[in-house]
Amino acid sequence: MSDSPLLNRATHIIDQVSSEKPADYVLRGELGADKELSPSEKRDISKAVFTYFRWLSWLDKSAATPSRLASALDLQRKFEADPAYFKPEALADRAVPEWVKDEIDLTPAYLRHLQSEPALWIRVQQEFAAALPRSLGNLAPSPSPLVPEKHRATTLRYTGQTDLFRTSEFHQGVFEIQDLASQLVSYAANPQPGQTWWDTCAGEGGKTLHLSALMENKGLIWASDRNTGRIATLRKRAGRAQAFNYRAVTWNGGPFLPTKTKFDGILIDAPCSGVGTWQRNPHARWTTTPTDVSELAEIQLQLLNHAAPALKPGGRLVYAVCTLTKSETTKIADAFTAAHPDYIPDPVFANAAAATPGPCQVHLWPHELNANGMFIAAWKRKG
Ligand SMILES: C[S@@+](CC[C@H](N)C(=O)[O-])C[C@H]1O[C@@H](n2cnc3c(N)ncnc32)[C@H](O)[C@@H]1O
Repeated sequence: MSDSPLLNRATHIIDQVSSEKPADYVLRGELGADKELSPSEKRDISKAVFTYFRWLSWLDKSAATPSRLASALDLQRKFEADPAYFKPEALADRAVPEWVKDEIDLTPAYLRHLQSEPALWIRVQQEFAAALPRSLGNLAPSPSPLVPEKHRATTLRYTGQTDLFRTSEFHQGVFEIQDLASQLVSYAANPQPGQTWWDTCAGEGGKTLHLSALMENKGLIWASDRNTGRIATLRKRAGRAQAFNYRAVTWNGGPFLPTKTKFDGILIDAPCSGVGTWQRNPHARWTTTPTDVSELAEIQLQLLNHAAPALKPGGRLVYAVCTLTKSETTKIADAFTAAHPDYIPDPVFANAAAATPGPCQVHLWPHELNANGMFIAAWKRKG
């Protein structure tokens, strides 16, 4: 980006960002209601702000913001022209905070991916899967073998420049903007039409809507969250997507459950440090702390302990977090398994064709999927 009014606007935004006011929050506030800027100008400003935070540790602390921003944009151009120019050791030292080295086995491929622009994924409703690529264009299915064959045409990467939120197809509920890793969580849950599921941390309903689509709107999903604002958004999104087989309730994660219902399946898409989203939201690299990780790990184990008894014998429990720290992934899953002999680790992805069952804990690495990072574990309750 070389347009100076846009660079000035990006600089103005960067100067407002702090640990209390994250970059994505300031961007939403600054650009959301701005009627003067075109969608492509807004996209350029957002990109410049995120580029700044992606290269933050390379920038001269004593320089003024405009010159630091220019250096960041220059580093991004250099990186895109030749990623190998940046040595893995330098990336390990600068692309992520030091504490992460105790929590993630960093690889050169992962670190390089963190410094690139993120991909945009959508999930199209099955009945529009043939028509949407013709009307929207620039859509390609994921090559990941983890996407079930019959849903391959609904899990698509968008490479065009249109602001998808402004398209009539989006407003008609034809598709949702949903990262590939998030879509894989619902494929891992593998709910069946007519079953009863509990989406314990439903938030704004990204996975509730996908579970509903996989259940063909048949059966029931209890969708809970402790945040009533998010539940309200979930209801709006469900209306747009014509998802009807859900009941939205509040649950604060405590021992008092929202219902006495016993479920065929429970999905715990738990609050987490979000390290898996650091490519998309690089400012979070510099605000997330080891204390966040340990506090969230306690909440995650508590959510599992409190929700699991609501599972029917033979039911499926799925734990997912969009992070990759050991404390919130394998350590939580192992601790739950050790404390609950009635819950038997179960393969995360069903693959009837495979000779041996797949793993019961899966890391979805961003550089392998070209998407967010995610961890998924699954159990079956003894029948
Ligand atoms: C990863 S987000 C869920 C995203 C959502 N499932 C989706 O696909 O759009 C985690 C959610 O957990 C909720 N949450 C945080 N702490 C909680 C708790 N103690 N009990 C229940 N929900 C909680 C947050 O409000 C947030 O919406």
